[in-house]
Amino acid sequence: MGAGNYDRKSVLFELGAAAVILLAAVLFLFNRKKEVVPEYVFSYAENQTKDYPTTMGGMRFAALVEERTQGRIRIQVQSEGQLGSETEVIRQMRYGGIDFARISLAQVADYIPEMKVLQLPYLYEDASHMWRVLDGEIGERYLQYPQQYDLIGLSWYDAGARNIYCSAKPVRTLEDMQGMHIRVQESEMMSEMMTALGAIPVKIPYDQVYAALERSQVDGAENNWSSYEAMQHYEVAKYYTVDEHIRIPEIQVCAKHTWEQLSEEDREIILECAKESALYERTLWTEYEKTARKTALENQVEEIVLSAEEKRKFQDAVQLIYDRYEADYGEDIAQIRALGAQ
Ligand code: GCU
Repeated sequence: MGAGNYDRKSVLFELGAAAVILLAAVLFLFNRKKEVVPEYVFSYAENQTKDYPTTMGGMRFAALVEERTQGRIRIQVQSEGQLGSETEVIRQMRYGGIDFARISLAQVADYIPEMKVLQLPYLYEDASHMWRVLDGEIGERYLQYPQQYDLIGLSWYDAGARNIYCSAKPVRTLEDMQGMHIRVQESEMMSEMMTALGAIPVKIPYDQVYAALERSQVDGAENNWSSYEAMQHYEVAKYYTVDEHIRIPEIQVCAKHTWEQLSEEDREIILECAKESALYERTLWTEYEKTARKTALENQVEEIVLSAEEKRKFQDAVQLIYDRYEADYGEDIAQIRALGAQ
């Protein structure tokens, strides 16, 4: 092999290597150009577990917003109550600490009395009645109310119907409710309702309910099948009484100070994505609720379904709440009732 031949080969080799390095550098720069640095990074509070329907709905919302703003708006969903209890989250949203949240209406309604109407006990005949209300003019109007409290209502999520569950003894009749200590949300309406049913309401934040049941600080609690399962309350309260005393929709909200930073176009995108994510959450809800009930029943939970006659007694007992609200909100209550039985 001559020296000339060797030199040519080595020059070719070096040129090839240089070309590869150059190509890699060009690709690197090209990809870096495509990676958009977000203009906004927002926080989103959620107190449920990672695979819970509302959390998955929040994740879908964040993904849709990021996609439709070409990465300019990034929303970071923080689940499992990492950002605090719902009352703390609402407070922080007013003072600029948190941008978005999904919260139980019961908590928001504690600050905005008009909203209590939507969570009156035994108000809706079933889920489709509630959705006729929330998807219509009433739902849209009630989404505007949180503005009084520096929150922008975006959409309604499903949370099914709530039932009563106890650890030491089951509730089979209204009589059984008398004098029982039952955990309720930090909400006046929930306290009023428990008192009307003859029980003693004990306000405890969601993440502390398991411990309260375990230590017999309360005799029972109330929630939908999904939360009962997700928070493992079925391990410490084995009697689940289906009385469907209340449907409390969930609400997605944005802090007013965050909303005000956004352009009209971005606000529209956010509203549209919130509404789409709500439809997604509703489909997840139906499935999750069924599986949650199945899991509970497989874990030695006794399901007690009230007879129509007994349920009527529960409904009659809460009538005094309607009497209180009738004067101020009679028209809305009548409008909501009219949307039942269709
Ligand atoms: C439901 C709701 C939660 C709420 C909880 C409660 O699970 O989804 O947001 O905190 O009820 O009873 O506190």
